[in-house]
Amino acid sequence: MPKITFMPMNTTVDGKSGDSILDVAVANDIPLSHACGGFCACTTCHVIVKTGIDSLSDMGDDEEERLDRASGLTLHSRLGCQAKLGKSDVVVEIMKEGTGH
Ligand code: FES
Repeated sequence: MPKITFMPMNTTVDGKSGDSILDVAVANDIPLSHACGGFCACTTCHVIVKTGIDSLSDMGDDEEERLDRASGLTLHSRLGCQAKLGKSDVVVEIMKEGTGH
């Protein structure tokens, strides 16, 4: 069972293959914003994947276009509602929109 560690709170929880990062966050009361409800229509669920990025589902065009508008975009950025777990553990850092990290 893959685990997700959420930073900066450093909380590790169990997920399931095929769950999105947002699904797992919501199920475990992790404060990951999701203003659009998980429909790839905002950037509030932006996370930076610290480890395990290759095990996540591939990025679709919609996600890529949306992320282009996110502040603090990095090569390891994903939208939490679109990135789905594979078999391996991941560590993600939750971005705060507008703080410019
Ligand atoms: S919750 Fe809006 S894009 Fe992920």
